[in-house]
Amino acid sequence: MAMSSEEMVRLCKEHTIYSWAKGEAVDPIPVERAEGVYMYTPDGRRFLDFNSQLMCVNIGHGHPKVAEAVKRQMDTLSFAYPGTATEIRARVSSLLADIVPGDINTFFFTLGGAEANENAIRAARLYTGRPKILARYRSYHGGTNAALQLTGDPRRIPNQPGMPGVVHVMDPRPYDFSFGKTDAEIVENNLRYLSEVIDYEGPQTIAAMIAETVTGTNGVLPPPEGYFPALKQLLDRHGILLILDEVMCGFGRTGKLFAFEHYDVVPDILTMAKGLTSAYVPLGAMGVSDPIAEHFRKNVFWGGLTYSAHPVSLAAAEAAIGVLRDEGLVENAARMQTVVRREMDRLTAKHPSVKGGRILGLFGIMDIQKNGRGDLIAPYNGTHPAMGELDRYFKQNGLFTFVRWSHFMVNPPLCITEEQILEGFSIIDRGLELTDRAFEG
Ligand SMILES: Cc1ncc(COP(=O)(O)O)c(C=O)c1O
Repeated sequence: MAMSSEEMVRLCKEHTIYSWAKGEAVDPIPVERAEGVYMYTPDGRRFLDFNSQLMCVNIGHGHPKVAEAVKRQMDTLSFAYPGTATEIRARVSSLLADIVPGDINTFFFTLGGAEANENAIRAARLYTGRPKILARYRSYHGGTNAALQLTGDPRRIPNQPGMPGVVHVMDPRPYDFSFGKTDAEIVENNLRYLSEVIDYEGPQTIAAMIAETVTGTNGVLPPPEGYFPALKQLLDRHGILLILDEVMCGFGRTGKLFAFEHYDVVPDILTMAKGLTSAYVPLGAMGVSDPIAEHFRKNVFWGGLTYSAHPVSLAAAEAAIGVLRDEGLVENAARMQTVVRREMDRLTAKHPSVKGGRILGLFGIMDIQKNGRGDLIAPYNGTHPAMGELDRYFKQNGLFTFVRWSHFMVNPPLCITEEQILEGFSIIDRGLELTDRAFEG
């Protein structure tokens, strides 16, 4: 007999450690199976997945083509050590060289996003011979040691001190400070400030700057117009590499295959994971530009992982990318942006507690305010009881998404239909009455 929801939750809580949480406080949803944009509990409750789990199941749940590809690969070759050449490695690396714009044609495969970033900074340091990395405060780059030191958000703090040599700088859009009113002003002032930091630190000591092309968990923040080309110019002047972290925003999430395609820039190093396999099997990758690849043809790449270029993960990637392309899901994300935008605007007009929403493709977030001045309901890294109530309301009413600080996420699988988006927003609409009650006027 299948395990009951209660037993599943009890045993998981008793014998496993949950991420970023105090064990006794976690309240996990028991998940038995999932299909398309829905997941189901053992006792038959259905949840609309409005966050693609961890913004990663881009093609939707349970696509048979990925399962078949994984099985086929397992039947043929379930593992070969990373020093071998395999057909699936040949195929997927060539496919990535094909679909990633610019001169990023060479890849190192990892198990996830954190390791992709770890190896990106390793590659940058080995290539430039410089020790330091610039990173931004409003960022998350992964839960391993170096990736957490790159991370700017509060998950870094209990993990410090860690790897030295990371210098954090403010984003073009800090939490409660403004570099200006217009995008042009913001870009100019932010980069003047950054240029001064570079001078203070000594440009000859800085290997790279890492940035999420569109900041994810820290607010779904697209860059201001013109930011990335001007940033790249500034970094190029000093021989500092640009690493773009597209672990969350890559593979169609923003309505283009890679988010940097919106912004007239090509990084020197690109990292990816999540949507690469739509999370069916763990896989991450670091892609490097031709000059960096050439360097590592002549010099040792001092990195390695038992499961690097794992054939089964690569088979999942090939199939998941195939589904994204064959079913037009990137285009669907771009189309559905209009529907989400309309719903976000409708709720902003209707609910006093809604400050507004941001959506690019199907990468979205809504902000909750406590008063007419637009002050967010919770402080930075804080909570508010009404946000807890909203979170519980979503769960009780069959909507799965992330509620954090003063925000909740809108990141459904890219296969979602207009009707399903409206279904999600009608639950949100009712839930927002709870935050409206906390609105101070
Ligand atoms: C932008 C970004 N980079 C890196 C990571 C870390 O990826 P992983 O959890 O696969 O190690 C994440 C995870 O959420 C992320 O959002």
